[in-house]
Amino acid sequence: MPNNAIIPCYKQEVAKSFNRAASTYDGFSQFQASVLSRLIRMTPDIKSELCLDLGCGTGNASQFLTSLSAQLINLDLSENMLRKAREKSQQSFSVCGDAELLPFQQSIFDLIFSSLSIQWCENLASIGSEVKRVLKHDGDFLVSTLAQDSMPEIAHCWRQVDGHTHINHYPSYEELIFDIQSAGLILEKSVCEPMTRWFDSPKSAIDSLKKVGASVLVETEERQVVTPLMWRKFLTEYEKLRTDKGIPLTYQLVYLHLKKTKG
Ligand SMILES: C[S@@+](CC[C@H](N)C(=O)[O-])C[C@H]1O[C@@H](n2cnc3c(N)ncnc32)[C@H](O)[C@@H]1O
Repeated sequence: MPNNAIIPCYKQEVAKSFNRAASTYDGFSQFQASVLSRLIRMTPDIKSELCLDLGCGTGNASQFLTSLSAQLINLDLSENMLRKAREKSQQSFSVCGDAELLPFQQSIFDLIFSSLSIQWCENLASIGSEVKRVLKHDGDFLVSTLAQDSMPEIAHCWRQVDGHTHINHYPSYEELIFDIQSAGLILEKSVCEPMTRWFDSPKSAIDSLKKVGASVLVETEERQVVTPLMWRKFLTEYEKLRTDKGIPLTYQLVYLHLKKTKG
Protein backbone atom coordinates (compact mmCIF):
# COMPACT_ATOMS: atom_id res chain seq x y z
CA MET A 1 0.00 0.00 0.00
CA PRO A 2 1.30 3.50 -0.73
CA ASN A 3 2.09 5.93 2.04
CA ASN A 4 -0.56 8.57 1.30
CA ALA A 5 1.22 11.03 3.57
CA ILE A 6 4.02 11.32 1.01
CA ILE A 7 1.88 11.22 -2.16
CA PRO A 8 1.20 14.83 -3.17
CA CYS A 9 -2.38 16.04 -3.21
CA TYR A 10 -2.65 16.07 -7.02
CA LYS A 11 -1.59 12.42 -7.15
CA GLN A 12 -4.25 11.52 -4.58
CA GLU A 13 -6.80 13.09 -6.92
CA VAL A 14 -5.44 11.08 -9.85
CA ALA A 15 -5.59 7.89 -7.75
CA LYS A 16 -9.17 8.70 -6.66
CA SER A 17 -10.28 9.36 -10.23
CA PHE A 18 -8.81 6.08 -11.50
CA ASN A 19 -10.16 4.22 -8.43
CA ARG A 20 -13.65 5.43 -9.38
CA ALA A 21 -13.18 4.47 -13.04
CA ALA A 22 -11.75 0.98 -12.45
CA SER A 23 -15.12 -0.74 -12.90
CA THR A 24 -16.03 1.12 -16.15
CA TYR A 25 -12.51 1.33 -17.64
CA ASP A 26 -12.57 -1.82 -19.77
CA GLY A 27 -15.94 -0.95 -21.33
CA PHE A 28 -14.79 2.53 -22.42
CA SER A 29 -11.08 2.07 -23.19
CA GLN A 30 -11.14 1.37 -26.95
CA PHE A 31 -8.71 4.27 -27.51
CA GLN A 32 -6.31 3.03 -24.79
CA ALA A 33 -6.55 -0.50 -26.26
CA SER A 34 -5.52 0.63 -29.74
CA VAL A 35 -2.57 2.64 -28.34
CA LEU A 36 -1.55 -0.40 -26.29
CA SER A 37 -1.58 -2.63 -29.42
CA ARG A 38 0.61 -0.13 -31.26
CA LEU A 39 3.12 -0.05 -28.36
CA ILE A 40 3.12 -3.87 -28.21
CA ARG A 41 4.01 -3.97 -31.94
CA MET A 42 7.03 -1.73 -31.20
CA THR A 43 8.28 -3.92 -28.33
CA PRO A 44 11.30 -6.14 -29.18
CA ASP A 45 10.53 -9.86 -28.95
CA ILE A 46 13.21 -10.59 -26.34
CA LYS A 47 12.55 -12.93 -23.40
CA SER A 48 13.29 -11.34 -20.04
CA GLU A 49 13.39 -12.28 -16.37
CA LEU A 50 11.65 -9.32 -14.75
CA CYS A 51 9.25 -6.85 -16.35
CA LEU A 52 7.46 -3.79 -14.92
CA ASP A 53 4.14 -2.43 -16.23
CA LEU A 54 4.25 1.21 -15.12
CA GLY A 55 0.70 2.52 -14.65
CA CYS A 56 -0.77 -0.91 -15.49
CA GLY A 57 -4.43 0.17 -15.12
CA THR A 58 -6.70 -2.88 -15.34
CA GLY A 59 -3.81 -5.00 -16.61
CA ASN A 60 -4.60 -5.09 -20.32
CA ALA A 61 -0.91 -5.55 -21.16
CA SER A 62 -0.51 -8.49 -18.71
CA GLN A 63 -1.04 -11.30 -21.20
CA PHE A 64 1.53 -9.87 -23.61
CA LEU A 65 4.06 -9.02 -20.89
CA THR A 66 3.84 -12.43 -19.20
CA SER A 67 4.48 -14.04 -22.60
CA LEU A 68 7.79 -12.13 -22.71
CA SER A 69 8.96 -12.34 -19.12
CA ALA A 70 9.31 -14.90 -16.33
CA GLN A 71 7.90 -12.45 -13.76
CA LEU A 72 5.66 -9.39 -14.15
CA ILE A 73 5.27 -6.58 -11.63
CA ASN A 74 2.21 -4.35 -12.07
CA LEU A 75 2.54 -0.87 -10.57
CA ASP A 76 -0.22 1.73 -10.34
CA LEU A 77 -1.28 4.65 -8.13
CA SER A 78 -4.82 3.26 -8.00
CA GLU A 79 -5.58 0.30 -5.74
CA ASN A 80 -8.82 -0.51 -7.59
CA MET A 81 -7.00 -0.62 -10.94
CA LEU A 82 -4.46 -3.01 -9.40
CA ARG A 83 -7.28 -5.26 -8.12
CA LYS A 84 -8.70 -5.48 -11.65
CA ALA A 85 -5.22 -6.20 -13.04
CA ARG A 86 -4.75 -8.99 -10.50
CA GLU A 87 -7.94 -10.71 -11.77
CA LYS A 88 -6.31 -10.89 -15.24
CA SER A 89 -2.92 -12.12 -14.10
CA GLN A 90 -2.84 -14.10 -10.85
CA GLN A 91 0.91 -14.74 -11.05
CA SER A 92 1.94 -11.10 -11.28
CA PHE A 93 2.96 -9.01 -8.26
CA SER A 94 1.00 -5.81 -7.56
CA VAL A 95 2.65 -2.68 -6.23
CA CYS A 96 0.66 0.44 -5.36
CA GLY A 97 3.05 3.33 -5.89
CA ASP A 98 4.16 6.35 -7.86
CA ALA A 99 5.97 6.11 -11.21
CA GLU A 100 8.00 9.19 -10.23
CA LEU A 101 9.34 7.57 -7.06
CA LEU A 102 9.74 3.88 -7.79
CA PRO A 103 9.83 1.63 -4.72
CA PHE A 104 12.48 -0.69 -6.19
CA GLN A 105 16.20 -1.17 -5.84
CA GLN A 106 18.45 -0.28 -8.75
CA SER A 107 19.14 -2.36 -11.89
CA ILE A 108 16.52 -5.11 -11.52
CA PHE A 109 14.19 -4.88 -14.56
CA ASP A 110 14.92 -6.11 -18.07
CA LEU A 111 11.86 -4.40 -19.53
CA ILE A 112 9.75 -1.45 -18.38
CA PHE A 113 6.50 -0.97 -20.32
CA SER A 114 4.13 1.95 -19.87
CA SER A 115 1.09 2.78 -22.00
CA LEU A 116 -0.78 6.08 -21.62
CA SER A 117 0.19 6.61 -17.97
CA ILE A 118 3.14 9.00 -17.75
CA GLN A 119 1.05 11.92 -19.05
CA TRP A 120 -0.34 11.97 -15.48
CA CYS A 121 3.10 12.56 -14.01
CA GLU A 122 4.38 16.02 -13.17
CA ASN A 123 8.03 15.65 -14.14
CA LEU A 124 9.08 13.59 -17.13
CA ALA A 125 12.76 13.97 -16.26
CA SER A 126 12.11 12.18 -12.96
CA ILE A 127 10.40 9.32 -14.84
CA GLY A 128 13.47 9.02 -17.10
CA SER A 129 15.81 9.05 -14.13
CA GLU A 130 13.77 6.53 -12.09
CA VAL A 131 13.40 4.20 -15.10
CA LYS A 132 17.14 4.40 -15.76
CA ARG A 133 17.90 3.66 -12.10
CA VAL A 134 15.77 0.48 -11.89
CA LEU A 135 16.52 -0.89 -15.41
CA LYS A 136 19.32 -3.40 -15.83
CA HIS A 137 22.13 -2.48 -18.20
CA ASP A 138 20.84 -2.98 -21.76
CA GLY A 139 17.25 -2.98 -20.43
CA ASP A 140 14.41 -1.58 -22.58
CA PHE A 141 11.83 1.11 -21.84
CA LEU A 142 8.73 1.16 -24.07
CA VAL A 143 6.36 4.05 -23.49
CA SER A 144 3.34 5.69 -25.11
CA THR A 145 2.00 9.07 -24.03
CA LEU A 146 0.25 12.23 -25.21
CA ALA A 147 1.91 15.32 -26.68
CA GLN A 148 0.96 18.95 -27.32
CA ASP A 149 -2.20 19.57 -29.39
CA SER A 150 -4.07 16.64 -27.89
CA MET A 151 -7.82 17.26 -27.51
CA PRO A 152 -7.78 20.62 -29.38
CA GLU A 153 -11.54 20.33 -29.91
CA ILE A 154 -12.26 20.44 -26.16
CA ALA A 155 -9.77 23.29 -25.63
CA HIS A 156 -11.31 25.31 -28.47
CA CYS A 157 -14.92 24.88 -27.31
CA TRP A 158 -14.20 25.74 -23.67
CA ARG A 159 -12.22 28.83 -24.76
CA GLN A 160 -15.40 30.04 -26.48
CA VAL A 161 -17.30 29.60 -23.20
CA ASP A 162 -14.97 31.04 -20.51
CA GLY A 163 -11.54 31.68 -22.05
CA HIS A 164 -9.96 28.59 -20.42
CA THR A 165 -9.05 25.30 -22.11
CA HIS A 166 -10.14 22.93 -19.29
CA ILE A 167 -7.55 20.42 -20.51
CA ASN A 168 -4.06 19.48 -19.36
CA HIS A 169 -1.16 20.99 -21.27
CA TYR A 170 1.08 18.36 -22.77
CA PRO A 171 4.72 18.91 -23.75
CA SER A 172 5.77 19.08 -27.41
CA TYR A 173 7.21 15.93 -29.02
CA GLU A 174 10.72 17.46 -28.81
CA GLU A 175 10.36 18.49 -25.12
CA LEU A 176 9.04 15.08 -24.23
CA ILE A 177 12.01 13.26 -25.80
CA PHE A 178 14.48 15.75 -24.29
CA ASP A 179 13.06 15.38 -20.76
CA ILE A 180 12.75 11.58 -20.76
CA GLN A 181 16.27 11.22 -22.16
CA SER A 182 17.84 13.79 -19.84
CA ALA A 183 18.98 11.18 -17.28
CA GLY A 184 20.92 9.34 -19.99
CA LEU A 185 18.51 6.85 -21.57
CA ILE A 186 19.31 6.20 -25.25
CA LEU A 187 16.54 6.72 -27.82
CA GLU A 188 16.18 3.71 -30.15
CA LYS A 189 12.94 4.66 -31.90
CA SER A 190 10.31 7.38 -31.70
CA VAL A 191 7.00 7.89 -33.45
CA CYS A 192 4.57 10.81 -33.21
CA GLU A 193 1.19 10.45 -34.87
CA PRO A 194 -2.26 11.97 -34.55
CA MET A 195 -5.37 9.86 -33.99
CA THR A 196 -8.88 11.23 -34.33
CA ARG A 197 -11.77 9.38 -32.74
CA TRP A 198 -15.38 10.00 -33.76
CA PHE A 199 -18.40 10.06 -31.46
CA ASP A 200 -22.15 10.26 -31.95
CA SER A 201 -22.47 13.21 -29.53
CA PRO A 202 -20.31 15.73 -27.60
CA LYS A 203 -21.42 14.02 -24.38
CA SER A 204 -20.15 10.61 -25.53
CA ALA A 205 -16.80 12.23 -26.46
CA ILE A 206 -16.51 13.63 -22.92
CA ASP A 207 -17.70 10.32 -21.42
CA SER A 208 -14.84 8.57 -23.20
CA LEU A 209 -12.55 10.56 -20.86
CA LYS A 210 -14.64 10.46 -17.69
CA LYS A 211 -15.41 6.72 -17.72
CA VAL A 212 -11.71 5.83 -17.92
CA GLY A 213 -10.78 8.27 -15.13
CA ALA A 214 -9.00 10.68 -17.47
CA SER A 215 -10.64 13.92 -16.38
CA VAL A 216 -8.35 15.23 -13.62
CA LEU A 217 -6.73 18.59 -14.39
CA VAL A 218 -3.06 19.08 -13.51
CA GLU A 219 -2.95 22.87 -13.94
CA THR A 220 -4.93 24.65 -11.24
CA GLU A 221 -5.68 27.64 -13.52
CA GLU A 222 -7.68 25.28 -15.78
CA ARG A 223 -9.83 24.11 -12.84
CA GLN A 224 -12.81 26.35 -13.40
CA VAL A 225 -16.22 26.09 -11.79
CA VAL A 226 -18.62 24.79 -14.45
CA THR A 227 -22.24 25.84 -14.04
CA PRO A 228 -25.05 23.94 -15.84
CA LEU A 229 -25.38 26.92 -18.22
CA MET A 230 -21.66 26.85 -19.08
CA TRP A 231 -21.85 23.11 -19.67
CA ARG A 232 -24.78 23.55 -22.09
CA LYS A 233 -22.86 26.31 -23.93
CA PHE A 234 -19.85 24.02 -24.18
CA LEU A 235 -21.95 21.19 -25.66
CA THR A 236 -23.45 23.64 -28.20
CA GLU A 237 -19.96 24.79 -29.25
CA TYR A 238 -18.76 21.18 -29.54
CA GLU A 239 -21.79 20.25 -31.64
CA LYS A 240 -20.66 22.90 -34.20
CA LEU A 241 -17.56 20.73 -34.90
CA ARG A 242 -19.68 17.81 -36.14
CA THR A 243 -18.72 16.43 -39.58
CA ASP A 244 -20.08 13.53 -41.68
CA LYS A 245 -18.11 11.18 -39.43
CA GLY A 246 -19.49 12.59 -36.18
CA ILE A 247 -17.96 14.57 -33.29
CA PRO A 248 -14.12 14.54 -33.41
CA LEU A 249 -11.65 14.11 -30.55
CA THR A 250 -8.00 14.19 -31.62
CA TYR A 251 -4.90 12.97 -29.79
CA GLN A 252 -1.21 13.46 -30.58
CA LEU A 253 0.36 10.15 -29.67
CA VAL A 254 4.02 9.57 -28.95
CA TYR A 255 5.59 6.10 -28.85
CA LEU A 256 9.19 5.72 -27.65
CA HIS A 257 11.64 2.86 -27.33
CA LEU A 258 14.57 3.81 -25.07
CA LYS A 259 17.45 1.77 -23.74
CA LYS A 260 19.80 1.84 -20.80
CA THR A 261 23.15 0.91 -22.30
CA LYS A 262 26.11 -0.34 -20.34
CA GLY A 263 27.31 2.44 -18.02
C1 LIG B 1 -5.20 5.62 -18.98
S1 LIG B 1 -4.76 4.45 -17.74
C2 LIG B 1 -3.74 3.34 -18.70
C3 LIG B 1 -3.73 1.97 -18.11
C4 LIG B 1 -3.02 0.88 -18.93
N1 LIG B 1 -1.60 1.16 -19.06
C5 LIG B 1 -3.66 0.70 -20.28
O1 LIG B 1 -2.96 0.88 -21.29
O2 LIG B 1 -4.84 0.34 -20.33
C6 LIG B 1 -3.56 5.35 -16.79
C7 LIG B 1 -3.13 4.61 -15.51
O3 LIG B 1 -1.97 5.28 -14.97
C8 LIG B 1 -2.08 5.30 -13.57
N2 LIG B 1 -1.24 6.40 -13.07
C9 LIG B 1 -1.41 7.73 -13.20
N3 LIG B 1 -0.41 8.41 -12.61
C10 LIG B 1 0.42 7.48 -12.07
C11 LIG B 1 1.63 7.57 -11.31
N4 LIG B 1 2.18 8.74 -10.99
N5 LIG B 1 2.21 6.41 -10.92
C12 LIG B 1 1.65 5.21 -11.22
N6 LIG B 1 0.51 5.07 -11.94
C13 LIG B 1 -0.10 6.19 -12.36
C14 LIG B 1 -3.56 5.51 -13.32
O4 LIG B 1 -3.95 5.15 -12.01
C15 LIG B 1 -4.17 4.63 -14.41
O5 LIG B 1 -4.42 3.32 -13.95
